[in-house]
Amino acid sequence: METKRRTVDNDVNNELIYSQAVDMLRAGEVVAFPTETVYGLGAIATNEKAVAKIFKAKGRPSDNPLIVHIGTKEAAETYVDFISQKAQTCMDVFWPGPLTLILQAKPNMFASNVTAGLQTVGLRMPDHPVALRLLQLVNQPIAAPSANRSGKPSPTTALHVEKDLAGHIPLIIDGGATGLGLESSVVDFTVDPPVILRPGGVTAQMLRDLIGDIIEPDTLQVDDANIPKAPGMKYAHYAPNAPVYLIKSDIHSVNKAVKEIQDKGQTVALLAPDIFKVASSNWFFSFGDSTNLENSAKVLYAHLRACDETSADIILVTVPDSSGVGAAIINRLEKASTGEWWQS
Ligand code: TXA
Ligand code: MG
Repeated sequence: METKRRTVDNDVNNELIYSQAVDMLRAGEVVAFPTETVYGLGAIATNEKAVAKIFKAKGRPSDNPLIVHIGTKEAAETYVDFISQKAQTCMDVFWPGPLTLILQAKPNMFASNVTAGLQTVGLRMPDHPVALRLLQLVNQPIAAPSANRSGKPSPTTALHVEKDLAGHIPLIIDGGATGLGLESSVVDFTVDPPVILRPGGVTAQMLRDLIGDIIEPDTLQVDDANIPKAPGMKYAHYAPNAPVYLIKSDIHSVNKAVKEIQDKGQTVALLAPDIFKVASSNWFFSFGDSTNLENSAKVLYAHLRACDETSADIILVTVPDSSGVGAAIINRLEKASTGEWWQS
């Protein structure tokens, strides 16, 4: 299959690109598009065969449900049984934006492979002009996971999508680099207090300030039936080819680790804030200013992917403070490294 990448900008030809995308989606095809978090790979959420193409293109395990994207806040009540006051308040304040709410799905509302057999669904209204335009034109809910091969870092540019999925999908709408760079926060509102299943741009503190008590587990949540509550979180994720090790944000520890690796005749890529540039790693990918965690979030996946373009044997990543978006960064780093810290 030939994969077309089409750039949407302020050009008049945009309408043609959107209408092609809409035609493809309506014909049961998949289309990659930008959101404010990462690129998504979308299919119409009521079309089982179309949704199956998402799983196939990504190589995604079928027990991992997809997030359903909607174009208006009002559309939510069409698809779910009950919206609590807390859930409604969060939609009112954070939508459009990087917050996915897990709610009770109305029976038979979506193709069964969207929810992976669960009674619940993750709903989100993305805050990106291209995603919103596409949703408005299609006028149907779009199921969309991140547009990467399963296990790889999520794509923050159309080129990342092309690298992973060329030949497997017909169209990528290129809207430039995404904003946040990490996937949405996933919060389970079927329980009270709500539980953060995946930290993201809408932080625990932002939620607490608005609706009070929030549970922020630091381990996987497994319910009575032994089904992980965010099924996706149990799989290896965001992983470049070389092994990733976490290290504390301390120049002496980093220098020591770099030396140990190189003394063994191995090479190392270091992902760290600017102040670590003095370390003698073989490759250095900067997070920028160490106090600007938003910037670290924005560049993290591109840097992890860039490591695959090097011949580094080992990747070292400094771990930020857990405040604000730091919690989401740490969560992704723990997955990328399967939780391993560098041991001197
Ligand atoms: O920012 C994002 O959320 C991006 C963009 C494209 O919108 N999408 C995304 O989708 O990250 P994906 O499929 O890569 O991650 C969805 C996560 C998975 O961990 C999945 O297990 C969880 O949400 N999830 C989806 N539906 C769920 C449900 N009904 N109950 C619990 N977890 C759910
Ligand atoms: Mg993903």
